[in-house]
Amino acid sequence: MLLLSIESSCDETAASVVRDGRDILSSIVASQISIHADYGGVVPEIASRKHLEAISLVIEEALRTAGVSLPAIEGIAVTRGPGLAGALLVGISTAKALAYGLNIPVAGVNHIESHILAVKLERDVAFPFIALAVSGGHTHLYEVHGIGRYRTIGQTLDDAAGEAFDKVAKLLGLPYPGGALIDRLAADGDPRAVKLPRPLMHDDTCNFSFSGLKTAVLNYVKKNPSVAEGAALHNICASFQSAVCDVLVSKTRAAVLRSGIRRVVVAGGVACNSGVRREMAAFADKEGAELFIPSPSLCSDNAAMLAVPGDYYLSGRAVAGFDLDALPVWPLDAISSPEGP
Ligand code: KG4
Ligand code: ZN
Repeated sequence: MLLLSIESSCDETAASVVRDGRDILSSIVASQISIHADYGGVVPEIASRKHLEAISLVIEEALRTAGVSLPAIEGIAVTRGPGLAGALLVGISTAKALAYGLNIPVAGVNHIESHILAVKLERDVAFPFIALAVSGGHTHLYEVHGIGRYRTIGQTLDDAAGEAFDKVAKLLGLPYPGGALIDRLAADGDPRAVKLPRPLMHDDTCNFSFSGLKTAVLNYVKKNPSVAEGAALHNICASFQSAVCDVLVSKTRAAVLRSGIRRVVVAGGVACNSGVRREMAAFADKEGAELFIPSPSLCSDNAAMLAVPGDYYLSGRAVAGFDLDALPVWPLDAISSPEGP
């Protein structure tokens, strides 16, 4: 199937053309980050307006890059949630209008499911596997038994890991979103320079908590106002990143040991982080687990990642009607499957 996919859940307007849930013919991402940076975070109303301005151009560009004409498209996948309601509706309305005009089916896909299954565009990962989804809104551990068969085994009790990166960046005076910048600054810092807590690391759950870690950085900055400059800035970034990585690895290890599933997928924007990639690789090596992390362009928000679930749901299983609506809150294990989790 020649699939057009559309993603507009937050601050990236993205479209992609993928053949048979496998070959990425194009993947176009128009980011609004520079606009939201002035406000220190995503402003929902602005996000919706910018999606409206960009979406037709992004879809045209995706078709042009793929060398495909619109009538050749056989199905459409669109992000249905979770995300910002107004932002999601821009993608969903566009997808439904195109599907109606072309008389082709449309499927509404879960954003986190797309992040997790993106890895299958590059590697043949067998089910079951443990998935760690780490993004701006999520830090969740799942058992993944097949497409549509997810069991949540742990999640953050407060901030998501990406949110913690962005909040810590903000209190260090760095621009939004600060995750990638902290990553770059951490490269020249000493991860042992500042002693920071590893919340919940030694409890017996697979849950996470990052708000205490963020507060610890805040308290440190208050006591050491010059921390936002020079080598001290590199050191606090490295120390914070190291604390996040320790917790993510420790909880993923617990999930592997508890479930006996020795394949691990790390997905979402924070999976771009060099410390996360390095520490997860070291853990997998030590435990003899198989590790799969998509290329960075498939970790941060994009539309190509909708292709694997999109192709699956459109192949006769779950085609949406034109009453398809946005689901701003949509837990992954609420996706029902006849086979169950
Ligand atoms: O998956 P994503 O693109 O959007 C959401 O679905 O949230 O994730 C965005 C998050 C942001 O919080 C951003 O700061 C973080 O991923 N991020 C990073 C890195 N690149 C993006 N965090 C740490 N290190 C990075 N290299
Ligand atoms: Zn995302």
